Amino acid sequence: MSFLAKNYNRRKIAFKKGKGSFLYGTNGKKYLDFVQGIAVNSFGHANPYLIKAINNQSKKIWHVSNAFIIPEGERLAKRLTQKTFADYVFFQNSGAEATEAAIKVARRYFYSIGKPKKNRILCVKNSFHGRTIAAIFASGSKKMTEGFGPRVAGFDHFEFNSIKSLKKSINKNTAAIMLEPVMGEGGIKVHSKLFLRNLRKICNKKNILLIADEVQCGIGRSGKFFAYEYAKIKPDIVPIAKGIGGGFPIGAVLMSKKAASGINSAGTHGSTFGGNPLAMTIGNAVLDQIYKKGFLKEIQKKSIYFFEEQNKRKKDYSKLIEEIRAVDLLIGLKLFNDQTKFIKKLEQNKLLTIRAAENTVRILPPLNVKKKEIDLAVKIIRKVCRESK
Ligand SMILES: Cc1ncc(COP(=O)(O)O)c(C=O)c1O
Repeated sequence: MSFLAKNYNRRKIAFKKGKGSFLYGTNGKKYLDFVQGIAVNSFGHANPYLIKAINNQSKKIWHVSNAFIIPEGERLAKRLTQKTFADYVFFQNSGAEATEAAIKVARRYFYSIGKPKKNRILCVKNSFHGRTIAAIFASGSKKMTEGFGPRVAGFDHFEFNSIKSLKKSINKNTAAIMLEPVMGEGGIKVHSKLFLRNLRKICNKKNILLIADEVQCGIGRSGKFFAYEYAKIKPDIVPIAKGIGGGFPIGAVLMSKKAASGINSAGTHGSTFGGNPLAMTIGNAVLDQIYKKGFLKEIQKKSIYFFEEQNKRKKDYSKLIEEIRAVDLLIGLKLFNDQTKFIKKLEQNKLLTIRAAENTVRILPPLNVKKKEIDLAVKIIRKVCRESK
């Protein structure tokens, strides 16, 4: 009997420990974990470098209020801004908090320049920006919002990757357009470079802020630090979470100087836990590894390797897998039919994956995955494909 709310369809496995890409079940089985907490554990389980960082910090100081200076957070913010478009950072604890902060930043900017009515946020239909009350209405999906009315006002929607639909949905009160460069929950759907470039141009022309939600596709997972870099554009606001904490809850919103100008005065926003010394130390330890020279290039190579190996025996799966959608280590196998059984069979063969929309099996190895672990995953996927024919 479980006393936890039944809002998750939990699989019947629990784990006693993890190491790198592997999880050890209480059932005695060793699983290759290509879920990694849904793109959270950037460096797998029990990463020695992260363990050392958390252990050291835990003996010094865990938490102080944001009423005081937090040097670890100052350092993390500086390092994030030095590598990106951003001039300012605000820290929270999760992705939904970060996307909501992004919305607040955009609205507050237009308020501060005397345009308070320019407050609508335009998002992709059936997207995913988190589960808080505003974030579900930002996503515009019936499934997520059903029963949670009254509807939170201020959100409009357009069709994925469609400039035509985007143009039609913009109005004079559009303050920001928020989208994921690569939609994770949506089934690894990639906004084209052309679309993103046109989007940036439209935002410039119409004085609209561009929010790139990099909660899932950011922090190296796309083979670039941020996925929007592929389109060679710069957004104005970027919410992040998941990978920056490597398993510790951290969220953040990155902002350009202009975008931050509305929120850059005392009392506009706040968080009790966001940016505490323990979290910030771990964020810095994650960046130490991601910022290592050549690390992102390695991710790109590993992704190509996975793709090539998987494609070698295309005939094994051509009737089962409609498309392989991959942006580096954000990989999706889009099946012709419902993916539930396929995921179950992978699990029976000790490979853990997770579902996404559009019959997609999501594969999310840690960023430091080894070649031989990719080989093992491909072997299992091929076996399951052969057996499922
Ligand atoms: C793109 C995106 N935005 C926001 C969120 C919400 O993050 P969290 O679950 O940490 O609130 C997620 C979570 O999957 C996400 O993928």
